[in-house]
Amino acid sequence: MNCKYVMPFQKVVTVATVMLLFCSLTGHAQSSLNGYWDFRSSNGDGTYRETFFQLEQNGDKLTGKWFGRDPNGVPMQGMLSGTNVHLETVPPPSGARTPAMSRPITYDGTFTNGVMTLTSSGFRGTTIKGEATKTTREAAMPPAPLPLPALHDLPDNGLVRTPPMGWNSWNKFAVKVTDADVRAAADELVSSGMAKMGYIYVNIDDTWAADERDANGNIKLNTKFPNMKALADYVHSRGLKLGIYSSPGPKTCASYTGSFGHEVQDAKMYASWGIDYLKYDLCSARYIYKSTPEVHQALYQKMGEALQATGRPIVFSLCQYGENDPWKWGAKAGGNLWRTTGDIRDQWQSMDKIGFSQIDIASYNKPGRWNDPDMLEVGNGGMNADEYRTHMSLWALLSAPLIAGNDLSSMSGETKSILMNPDVVAIDQDIAVNPVKRITKQGDVEILARKMADGSTVVGLFNRGSQPEDATLEWSSVIAGKVASVRDLWKHEPVAANGATYHASVPTHGVVLLKIKP
Ligand code: GLA
Repeated sequence: MNCKYVMPFQKVVTVATVMLLFCSLTGHAQSSLNGYWDFRSSNGDGTYRETFFQLEQNGDKLTGKWFGRDPNGVPMQGMLSGTNVHLETVPPPSGARTPAMSRPITYDGTFTNGVMTLTSSGFRGTTIKGEATKTTREAAMPPAPLPLPALHDLPDNGLVRTPPMGWNSWNKFAVKVTDADVRAAADELVSSGMAKMGYIYVNIDDTWAADERDANGNIKLNTKFPNMKALADYVHSRGLKLGIYSSPGPKTCASYTGSFGHEVQDAKMYASWGIDYLKYDLCSARYIYKSTPEVHQALYQKMGEALQATGRPIVFSLCQYGENDPWKWGAKAGGNLWRTTGDIRDQWQSMDKIGFSQIDIASYNKPGRWNDPDMLEVGNGGMNADEYRTHMSLWALLSAPLIAGNDLSSMSGETKSILMNPDVVAIDQDIAVNPVKRITKQGDVEILARKMADGSTVVGLFNRGSQPEDATLEWSSVIAGKVASVRDLWKHEPVAANGATYHASVPTHGVVLLKIKP
């Protein structure tokens, strides 16, 4: 509406009053959307996802910022027409740190009586409904950092002398995981035979906690997890161990309650429930604390110490995406394993990039101290069997934790044959923990080798290219002296070792995995 008009003074006053009234009735009043907004949408489990907007209204045009946990925000734009509101995030340039923001998140709805009722789509591919109400800048911004402990080395807790094995809910079930899913996974680990092979940790990832703590600050469960102690008892009754997940920040990555300022209390609660494993994910803490090796070590030491003080053996899994070389200080903070990279996706490019970037840090693996290139995607459907065999072979050669991330209740025979190849699991669990070495790189073919405790050498001939390749291995490049016997660990058959070299055709993105006895 054009609010400029030339007329006698008395009339101006009357017209201005009428216009003001009109403007406020239609929601057109200047500045009415200016300020900070708290958008809450139900997660369906008694918790709310909370995001914030800071809006500036100029006529019917809206500009501003979207805030998840990052105080820098993401630019937003939109329109207010009558009572109809449209808002959308402006995707940051590609390569931004928040992958969920690479596509715009849109919000559509109405603005009445000071409340925006909105339907949002685009965030992690879901549609959500909720209400936005006015809030303050303080509420929208992360809290001030808490004092951090002076650094000192925590003792070895004596756990996971070989890389931990088990299952985790995130890669398949993500935010939907329930108590029933976890019990089913425990049952499947036992009935499939995986538990017997060593897959014993049943790990609940993000989204088990309630939004509010109780009056004494104790962490509470949301409606998807009615009774954690009962769940732990069930998992233990199956001969397995139960893992849980939290963050040093106030919010986890899926915006559930984290341990910020409640580390000791939460560790005690986990111990009282009978928890055996904690994955501790940086998430919102990255927007409160600086990212330096000292700060990260202190953040994780705080929880590491709290876990050790409970007296219960609890595996401590660090997850801060490999920032600040956690392989150099993770053990000092009480860590048993530390993520070395960003999140894996069920896709060749992601797995290939992560897997082959780990070789140079393999020498940091020690009993109870493991590099963690993230959980397995085997069986989730985004890669073919050759690619999953590469995934499994690489993780085994790297002494990586073998944490299955698929739906165990619907495993194909092929998926089972990959996760449950005893020879490949044995490589992963080999007690000598010799680091894998890169022997050669011939075009797209990479040859990796690792010496086993029994004196044998395992060699992987990997084809990272998009065409089948012929690979050549000089026996002498991986073994001193005469070759006594060779076995193909995926074909489950002996390989003839006549002559000085071995030739194999390796399928696209595939692997030939050999165990060579001198
Ligand atoms: C981060 C972690 C993932 C998973 C999610 C849960 O992205 O790296 O492994 O735990 O958080 O929100």
